[in-house]
Amino acid sequence: MAKVLYIKASPRTGRSHSLAVAEAFLEAYRELNPKDQIVALDLFAEDLPPFDGLLINAKYNIMHDRPHSPEESAAWRVVEDYIHQFKGADKYVLAAPMWNFGIPYRLKQYIDIIVQPAYTFGYTPGEGYQGLVTGKPIFIAGARGGSYPPGTPAAAFDLQIPYLQVILGFIGFTDFRLVLIEPTLEAGPETAYTRRQEAMAKARGMAKEF
Ligand SMILES: Cc1cc2nc3c(=O)[nH]c(=O)nc-3n(C[C@H](O)[C@H](O)[C@H](O)COP(=O)(O)O)c2cc1C
Repeated sequence: MAKVLYIKASPRTGRSHSLAVAEAFLEAYRELNPKDQIVALDLFAEDLPPFDGLLINAKYNIMHDRPHSPEESAAWRVVEDYIHQFKGADKYVLAAPMWNFGIPYRLKQYIDIIVQPAYTFGYTPGEGYQGLVTGKPIFIAGARGGSYPPGTPAAAFDLQIPYLQVILGFIGFTDFRLVLIEPTLEAGPETAYTRRQEAMAKARGMAKEF
């Protein structure tokens, strides 16, 4: 029985294109793998801890082999719980909108929480950085209001998908399954609807080999 972690990074519930496509994928996946466990993590409903001075001190104390203060230990336990949940999954589904050419701040906050030395990446002077979350696939439904086709000047503005691939690659991911829903705004609601339907059909097909 595999565990699938479904990370929801749009707050737009029923209107969201990325959630609709991720859920089409999961619906098809569930039919094929009825015994698997799918756990949803809604980043806009979740009480994520701010990655503030306290957590940064806790992080740097780990990096420099220094003990945690009692306050840091308590704060760090929450970070460890999120990392534990993340690393405990066998497969990942991420619904990710583009916001200001990058990702929503809640998703960035979650990334700042789970990307931690000795937990999700390692470092040795000889070998450099090594990702510790390996051998697991991630399906990403990426929605954006405009279009960013590769090879056009607009592609340089896409800091959403390339960033996700860099940061997830940094912690060990190599198996990315990607479906884009674009443009969801720029070309009007009919085009958005068509692109969403196309993306949902594609996602359902991709669920067969996940
Ligand atoms: C705060 C905010 C910033 C946005 N910035 C961009 C942007 O830089 N480029 C773009 O193409 N679309 C942008 N959009 C539009 C969204 O990418 C688009 O509505 C997409 O469908 C959102 O995903 P969702 O439908 O899953 O919520 C932005 C939307 C919001 C709410």
